[in-house]
Amino acid sequence: MAIERVVSGMRPTGSLHLGHYNGVLKNWVDLQHELECLFFVADWHALTTHYDAPEIIEKNVTSMVIDWLAAGVDPANATIFIQSKVPEHAELHTLLSMITPLSWLERVPTYKDQQEKLSSKDLSTYGFLGYPLLQSADILIYRATQVPVGEDQVPHIEFTREVARRFNHLYGKEKGFEERAEEAIKKLGTKKGQLYKELKDAYQEEGDDQALASAQSLIDEQQILSLGDKERLLGYLEGGGKIILIEPEYKLTPASKMVGLDGQKMSKSYNNTIALTESSEDIQKKIRTMPTDPARIRKTDPGDPKNCPVWPLHQVYSDEKTKVWVESGCKNASMGCIECKQPVIDSITKELGPINERAKKYAESPELVQSIIGEGCEKARKIARDTMRDVREVMGISF
Ligand code: TRP
Ligand code: SF4
Repeated sequence: MAIERVVSGMRPTGSLHLGHYNGVLKNWVDLQHELECLFFVADWHALTTHYDAPEIIEKNVTSMVIDWLAAGVDPANATIFIQSKVPEHAELHTLLSMITPLSWLERVPTYKDQQEKLSSKDLSTYGFLGYPLLQSADILIYRATQVPVGEDQVPHIEFTREVARRFNHLYGKEKGFEERAEEAIKKLGTKKGQLYKELKDAYQEEGDDQALASAQSLIDEQQILSLGDKERLLGYLEGGGKIILIEPEYKLTPASKMVGLDGQKMSKSYNNTIALTESSEDIQKKIRTMPTDPARIRKTDPGDPKNCPVWPLHQVYSDEKTKVWVESGCKNASMGCIECKQPVIDSITKELGPINERAKKYAESPELVQSIIGEGCEKARKIARDTMRDVREVMGISF
């Protein structure tokens, strides 16, 4: 059976903030202990929208890796690398582009959405249209089975599945597949061969799943068959050929409840973030100056946490006791907003303290970071090269 392998990437278009930490990064850190994981900086993807701002990408590639490491992504448990340092992604992207209908790309919902959202930029480029296909190459090249992403990325994973299916359909049939499968049936002997054919027909003609399962276990049990013959007979049952590229599943990242300093979703484009590497002075300053319930003009005016952007931060960072204290203190005006904000300041400072320290250490040893990235790239390339060997072979270009 195929091993479970996780692949995910992030675009280096800005520094990471608490929203990324509470949503994506904590999830990556957990996954790395359960499954084989590869995490990469998607610098080519960043260029599809930031082709006019290479300095942003340049600045954020290494600092993004540092933030990952500081947040607990561990190079001993996960392979960390940079997309553009594994050029096989680009080769696979080119080869997949040969078989990808233009209409599939045009109908990916993020294409028009993003063009409209980022209307200040000209995104009617070849590269931007191909964004989801480049993402498919990122995933398929590692034969990943699971891709942790946010909800907005689901159409890209579904698109990837379609591309993989089309690829396998076009190239998964080895020459003489049917003759070879028939030869393999003969090796089963008369009785078992007959049984195999009956079960195959029952499945293919009547959709009998039970028959499919019986036939599969019949093949599994045959010790005289070579692995290649087993694979052929299993493929023949379902009418298909070999699986060269694996169809991945998406694994939804738990929704981050993180709200920004203004009560909207925390996001760089709203300018309402707390960075992962924010200093404790800045954390304090940012939270102290946060707007509160507008009804509380004076300390003696009662308010309601429901109308206050600080309240969602208490939801994430405070225990029950503190939350009860906030509700009553706010509603009966027995405490001021600065006092109410202090526990949030304390919790965030406590959470980010160790992350900050680790980030500083990594930032002070660029050689260490370079060697982590270098090793990650090498490891990733090994897998990518293996896949490309198979892909080139079935596409007729392995001279
Ligand atoms: N498009 C993804 C995003 O914006 C980033 C990405 C690029 C990615 N390649 C990937 C995510 C491969 C998962 C797998 O978040
Ligand atoms: Fe918001 Fe707390 Fe002030 Fe109430 S007391 S308005 S919850 S900051």
